[in-house]
Amino acid sequence: MAHAQPGIFALGTRSHHHLEFDVLPDVAPTEVVAALRGLREPSVTAGGDNIIVGFGADLWRRIAPAESPDALVPFAGVQGDGRSMPATQHDVWIWVHGTGPDVLLDTARAVGRSLAPVAVLALEQPAFVYRDSRDLTGFVDGTENPPVFEAPEVAIIPDDQIGAGGSYVIASKWVHDLDAFHRLNVTDQEGVFGRTKSDSVELDDSVKPPNAHIARVVIEEDGEELELFRRSTPFGTVREAGLYFLAFSADPTRFDKMLARMFGVSGDGIHDHLTDFSTPVSGAYYFAPSLEALATLLG
Ligand code: HEM
Repeated sequence: MAHAQPGIFALGTRSHHHLEFDVLPDVAPTEVVAALRGLREPSVTAGGDNIIVGFGADLWRRIAPAESPDALVPFAGVQGDGRSMPATQHDVWIWVHGTGPDVLLDTARAVGRSLAPVAVLALEQPAFVYRDSRDLTGFVDGTENPPVFEAPEVAIIPDDQIGAGGSYVIASKWVHDLDAFHRLNVTDQEGVFGRTKSDSVELDDSVKPPNAHIARVVIEEDGEELELFRRSTPFGTVREAGLYFLAFSADPTRFDKMLARMFGVSGDGIHDHLTDFSTPVSGAYYFAPSLEALATLLG
């Protein structure tokens, strides 16, 4: 049985750091793999921090063609009516998370040093758990996330498929207009998400607006709800604040279907009201291979 990288499911860490790299021209995939060997115990822990490694479709296909599912593709972006999500696909994504920002920075810097000879750092985003797992809008994020004992079924490719033990990843930085959001009264804020603010109770269908976030991302197919395992974390300074949206799935088409409904290109012309208050400034799909696939590569 193939095992997923355990850091995907390690909950309770409050400090997070995301690094997305572009491999330099003329660097061979084997050189990237050699550079990753420099990370101590990649995909497990370093000094108490979790390290999770993902690859863009093109690079992963060159590194491990036999472990590359057909469904693995680069993110193509979403062009909606007046709003869009850019494709900023990079080659390597590394997520480190742990209990505090001090040791985590050491780990993130060690990752950066290991990859510096073969890749440039294209996006870096430190992030954190805000209060009781709230988004900076003040709403609890994660209420309907599958519990950790069910999450592997949602997020991990089953044993009989190519890429078994791996997971499809969406990583996307969203910048909030918090001032505009907080100018809404609480009832209107609750309409944006479709849940109450204080205790995250789902609004009754009679009052939940059709463009509420959860009304757009809850999709049923053959009586089954399409599920993701989300690990998003807020980031923020006085100047810029938002959410690094991060989710894992055993089937990448779920990402496309949800985004199409959020950006009003799924056929009914409705866009997610959340996109009036938050704008994606990056978007990429990665593949987080199984522990066994990583061990074979990294030796
Ligand atoms: C600024 C960006 C986003 C914010 C602030 C945000 C926030 C939230 C909040 C507050 C909830 C309700 C509580 C919960 O169940 O977790 C939620 C639910 C959810 N979101 Fe998002 N979200 C964002 C982007 C996205 C994107 C891009 C997707 C999909 C590609 C997505 C998929 C989901 C799903 C599947 C649920 C669970 C719905 C349910 O089962 O009730 N979200 N989100």
